[in-house]
Amino acid sequence: MLNTNQNCNIGFVGLGVMGKSLALNLADHGYRVAGFDLDTHKIQDVLNTEAAERIDPSAEARIIGCSDMKEMLSHLVKPRVIVVLVPAGKPVDAVCQSLIEAGLEADDIVVDCGNSQWTDTIRREAEYKEKFKFFGTAVSGGEVGARFGPSLMPGGDANSWKYLQPMWEAVAAKVDKNGKPIESNTPGKPVTEGEPCTAYLGPNGAGHYVKMVHNGIEYADMQLICEAYHLLRSLLGYEPEEIGKLFEKWNQGVLNSYLVEISADILQQYDQKTGAPLVDMILDSAGQKGTGRWTSISATQMGVPAGIISESVYARALSTLTGERELAAGKLTADVESGEIAAEDVEKAIEEALYCAKICAYAQGFQIMRAAQKEYDWTFNFSDIAKIWRGGCIIRASFLQKIADAFDENHELENLLLSDYFADAMAKKQTGLRKAVVLAAQSGIPTPSFFSALAYFDGYRSDVLPANLLQAQRDYFGAHTYERVDAEPGQKFHTFWQEEGRPERKA
Ligand code: 6PG
Repeated sequence: MLNTNQNCNIGFVGLGVMGKSLALNLADHGYRVAGFDLDTHKIQDVLNTEAAERIDPSAEARIIGCSDMKEMLSHLVKPRVIVVLVPAGKPVDAVCQSLIEAGLEADDIVVDCGNSQWTDTIRREAEYKEKFKFFGTAVSGGEVGARFGPSLMPGGDANSWKYLQPMWEAVAAKVDKNGKPIESNTPGKPVTEGEPCTAYLGPNGAGHYVKMVHNGIEYADMQLICEAYHLLRSLLGYEPEEIGKLFEKWNQGVLNSYLVEISADILQQYDQKTGAPLVDMILDSAGQKGTGRWTSISATQMGVPAGIISESVYARALSTLTGERELAAGKLTADVESGEIAAEDVEKAIEEALYCAKICAYAQGFQIMRAAQKEYDWTFNFSDIAKIWRGGCIIRASFLQKIADAFDENHELENLLLSDYFADAMAKKQTGLRKAVVLAAQSGIPTPSFFSALAYFDGYRSDVLPANLLQAQRDYFGAHTYERVDAEPGQKFHTFWQEEGRPERKA
């Protein structure tokens, strides 16, 4: 294992699924990697895979295994770049501590590529400043993405970015000039042309924050597809395979995305054991690691309306109440209307509903980031963010190009819904969303994210909301004061609601 040459471009601590895949990706692009993991089997596994995949077996190994962090550091060119891919939270700090003890220097760069909470990245960047440069890079795309081209969301010390940029641009997913992903999943034959799905997003926690919002949108995107499936199945009695085929068709149009594509594939698979559609054999209780919840919490803390994302988190939570739901199903009935519905019309309505709700969910995600940049002193380039999500990541979708175009046209765009393209799309297709929501309500089918999307759209486009009554209520019971429509903004008024009696209308 030992090799004293200082000729490796990058070190890895953590060679689990993601670490291994990213290390192999870097090796494919010609970088030499020094890897370490507490589990020696994982080191051996990555070395074996690299050897097996090497196109020229006589060529020198591009990945070397190290028996400790000190040895790993001894192989790296300076300033040393070390990727840390360990579970988020305490393990990241434990690795940083061990790296310091192993001889890290002030110019060395430690890159946390895990799903860390952005506040931890902000803290770590400040805390380790004197010892080394702590840099965040969030990775999306799962195992295959990491191996053949992920979407990379870097944030940290701007000076360190110049060392990372060539490597990150090499290994990131690529898109063509129309924003379409260029994919190759062949080891040793990486994609080298096209625009890389990575861009420097800002200091300290900026990259991890953007990834968190990516995941919040991912939750919404997934939930909306599930609601479309639920409606098609319950309203029209379609079998999963039929819905899968319909999704395949939708995937050719404006809904084209990785998540619609995989859902189409999932729905057409059958269980080998029972012969039933595989989806029917999977327990309807959703897991979550927390990034969608963090997005919802962050939005709520900043006062950003992000109901679709939050509803998607709640929908997962509700799904886990399997025992209670069973009990309730026997006790609570729905008083529903049934009537003749034309399948073709319903299909069209649900397709439009999915598109409109998806636009609203992305609008909310970008609103969250707009607020966060003020909160954390970042300056996001929203067009760049949309562009680096066009390939590699879980929410990759062709309409991200339209989002990038909208922000390119107007960098100060307050809300995606205000761009001509998306305002027009909502004008043309909102009937479908309204119809889907009505059908769901009439039939007792839970579609919380569709409902929330419509409420958001209608709320956002309302120049008058009943918040005037709400302000009056607050003033009535708590003397919280209110502003008047005919006074200067910021000027506060209070009414002694009970003491003053109920003044009558002036004649
Ligand atoms: C990605 C995914 C990835 C992971 C999620 C799953 O972008 O590659 O988002 O990060 O699949 O963390 O999250 P949940 O377990 O919360 O669904």
